[in-house]
Amino acid sequence: MSYSYNDRLKIRGGKRLNGEIRVQTSKNATLPIMSASLLAQGRVLLRDCPDIIDVENMVKILRELGAKIDRVGDDYSIDSSSILDVCLDYELCKTMRSSIFLLGSILARFKSVCLTLPGGCKIGRRPIDIHVQAFRRLKVKVIELDDFVFFNASKARAGKIKLKIPSVGATENIVQFASTLKGKTVIYNSAREPEVVDLCNFLNKMGAKIYGAGTRKITIFGVDKLKGVEYKPIADRIVLGTLLVATAICGGTIRLTNANSHQNEKLIEILSRMGCQINIKNDIIMLSRDVPLRSIPKISTGYYPQFPTDLQSIIMVLSCLANGQTEIDERIFENRFLIVDELKKMGAKIELIDNHTAIVDGVDSLKASNLKALDLRGGASLVLAGLVAQGETIIENVHYIDRGYCHIEKMLKSLGADIERI
Ligand code: EPZ
Repeated sequence: MSYSYNDRLKIRGGKRLNGEIRVQTSKNATLPIMSASLLAQGRVLLRDCPDIIDVENMVKILRELGAKIDRVGDDYSIDSSSILDVCLDYELCKTMRSSIFLLGSILARFKSVCLTLPGGCKIGRRPIDIHVQAFRRLKVKVIELDDFVFFNASKARAGKIKLKIPSVGATENIVQFASTLKGKTVIYNSAREPEVVDLCNFLNKMGAKIYGAGTRKITIFGVDKLKGVEYKPIADRIVLGTLLVATAICGGTIRLTNANSHQNEKLIEILSRMGCQINIKNDIIMLSRDVPLRSIPKISTGYYPQFPTDLQSIIMVLSCLANGQTEIDERIFENRFLIVDELKKMGAKIELIDNHTAIVDGVDSLKASNLKALDLRGGASLVLAGLVAQGETIIENVHYIDRGYCHIEKMLKSLGADIERI
């Protein structure tokens, strides 16, 4: 880890991207899996974890709780068997929404916990009502008081839950909680994201009995105990998408390994329609782009397998440079157009209709500017815009990007981009 809070990126745009990258491990798979390792009676060995700030913060929280964590390279050994009681570091939890994913495992193991309302990117209100409702259905007592929420699971019972929307975090919390809860718990309208499936695979390897992951109905039969295992979380489909789009923007040819095309079908379809050539073989995806980009009339985000909200700002940058008009509909979060003003500084033509709809008219080029990252994915999108802009772009607040991308400048430099961290 060599990130510092005040880092900035300096990018001189105009280089084509060529080369090969192995896609990093998924942040959104690793974080709940780290949380679920609290459930193991024994040591969990997590292989190839991403070197990012969110993982570093999760490790800090787990250590604060008393877990013994050793790191060798990118492998983490987590032994939480000696933790007797929990006391969460509220300041750390506030910096990271992923602390909400600790709820399921902590409640399962220690029966009660007090959380502060979690922090995260400024992409929307991000309430936790669905989590709370789901736990209440399992007879967990929940008391909300100002910024704090108390949970007590001493009288919890397995049962049936119907989520009002397929929340990723709520599904992951209930799956963790119900894994060791006596009886049969069923989650209807569960999230189907690959990261949810990966968490369930991890828990099943530990001895859990979870069925239906990746469908709209997950059934969990509680077991008495879970054992320590070795596990490697899946590759990061959002980083994969970011690198494909970066090459589509700059032109050139990229070869991604550790790349799952099935988890990215919607993006691959859109990139092909926009003029990219894509070849897939096993876990390798190759993309090249030599012809001008064609716009797509409408791109809407949605729950998996629809187009991911986490790639919405990334595809917006590509649309800014395509021939024609694109309507971008953000259907998951209510404040995920944070980059629009920054892109406009670069000469992009974007009209915000409301919090959920933006109309993008393609322009021939973008010009360099001094920019501020305001959230993780939006920050990465600005980097992509800088790669193609004429002149020198400076990006501040790189710490947002470092939450999810392993040394983004090193990845892009290895492909030939002119980018450095200052
Ligand atoms: C996960 O967040 C991801 N985070 C997000 O990735 C991702 O954008 C999101 O799923 C959607 O795919 C992690 O996995 C750590 P949700 P999560 O609960 O679980 C609303 C990134 O860039 N909602 O599925 O918090 C919520 O406000 C991040 O890597 C409620 O109203 O997402 C949102 O509009 C950002 N009440 C929608 O549901 C609730 O209790 C989906 O949220 C919970 C959610």
